[in-house]
Amino acid sequence: MEIKVSDNVKDTPCEVLVINKFENEKTSQELANTYAVEKDHFEGKFGQTYLMHTLGKIPADKILVVGFGKKEEFDSNKMRQAVAKAIKKLQQIQAQDVCFDFDVNCDYGKSAAIGALIADYAFDKYKNEKAKRVAKVTFAKFSEADVKEGIIFGESMKFTRDLANEPAAYATPSKLAEIASSIDGITTKIYDKEEIERMGMGAYLAVGQGSIQPPKFIHMKYTGRNPKKKIAIIGKGICFDSGGLDIKPASSMLTMRDDMSGAACVLGVMKALSALEPDMEVHGIIAACENMPSGSSYKPGDILKAKNGKTIEVDNTDAEGRLTLADALCFACELGVDEVIDIATLTGACMVALGTQASGIMGNDEDMISTLIRTAKDSGENFWQLPMFPEYKDSLKSDIADMKNTGSRYGGASTAGVFLQEFVSGVKWCHIDIAGTAFLEKPQKEFIAGATGAGVRTFLNYIKNA
Ligand code: BES
Ligand code: MN
Ligand code: ZN
Repeated sequence: MEIKVSDNVKDTPCEVLVINKFENEKTSQELANTYAVEKDHFEGKFGQTYLMHTLGKIPADKILVVGFGKKEEFDSNKMRQAVAKAIKKLQQIQAQDVCFDFDVNCDYGKSAAIGALIADYAFDKYKNEKAKRVAKVTFAKFSEADVKEGIIFGESMKFTRDLANEPAAYATPSKLAEIASSIDGITTKIYDKEEIERMGMGAYLAVGQGSIQPPKFIHMKYTGRNPKKKIAIIGKGICFDSGGLDIKPASSMLTMRDDMSGAACVLGVMKALSALEPDMEVHGIIAACENMPSGSSYKPGDILKAKNGKTIEVDNTDAEGRLTLADALCFACELGVDEVIDIATLTGACMVALGTQASGIMGNDEDMISTLIRTAKDSGENFWQLPMFPEYKDSLKSDIADMKNTGSRYGGASTAGVFLQEFVSGVKWCHIDIAGTAFLEKPQKEFIAGATGAGVRTFLNYIKNA
């Protein structure tokens, strides 16, 4: 999809002119007022659409009226959803070249562009019959700069969604390393198995040892011109989670190629930074590996030693994400950054608690948590705080090591949170559990089924606004 901004949309011939209608108000087009409003009583409730032919009365062939709902309730999140709704309608009628002329104030360009690109998304690389797409979108009124930023966000999300949707046979640890190394404007260092061993990352290493795919520890770094803050983002990068020897049932394993969604988010964010140019130092970290059952797999009862010297009794090989994150967190905390955020498809428990509507957030700094929650909301995502009461640690007690990797079946998202905290020292830290939000089994709002790019928009805005 090509997105442009133009001032004279009204006089530009295009297949469909998309306009808006607030409830109890007229539209900007006489023709639409006559037919949609007066004749057909189109109300303009949020998300309703009305399509009409113009019979040559204006340069556009058709008008699509999009309901914007109550004027006082309209905001940038509504804008994104309205544009997405319009794009889906335009895909159905196979329109190619469309113009949007919304009668709203002009600073909605970013959310409009993001909405268009979210709706334009399809993972059709492996299909012979490609998805129906709108080729060209022209927006009136919005600022060029806002739309450009929206395109950067939208393309970053697309990049993340593509990577998380890819089969595990494609998106291997080596592939993630290759992609990280090819991103412009950042420096990347890849650590191989021997170096990971030398760094003392015994927890991470154990998870990957059952796979024929070698682990790759990825460290990317972006340095802005006058860095105001140093921050590290860590993405869980389990390229396939079979559960290991504590193997998952078939139905739970089916979508486990998405267990690197956190890593895909971090890669998408790092890719966007050289275009956004924030005054920040941003480290992107991924401890990539596969969790597979084999003769060389780590086993229940094994005792692992993480980079900070703490020992972990393996209670369940399917609680692998926290083991890889443990070493990645140790690594991040040694970089001298102000803040660390990890993002991970970590627990089924988080999915049970919050569904597909919200990601869980935990951390050791209430201000950082609330800033991230607010940033998420403004970005069109939901982060919801889950508790990290120290009591959750009780169930992680081990007789033979410093801790076990799993505890009680209840409160699983919080148990994972307090486990991770054992590997955080001297920095502000937040953990985002995207188990429920990263990958949809069926379409939801402006998203088709599959990967959603969870976290990308929020991280980009967080880094930009820091
Ligand atoms: N990758 C899974 C979590 C997950 C589940 C992500 C569903 C997305 C959808 C994680 O590695 C896992 O297997 N967690 C276990 C932990 C348990 C063994 C303590 C779980 O949630 O069942
Ligand atoms: Mn698992
Ligand atoms: Zn996992």
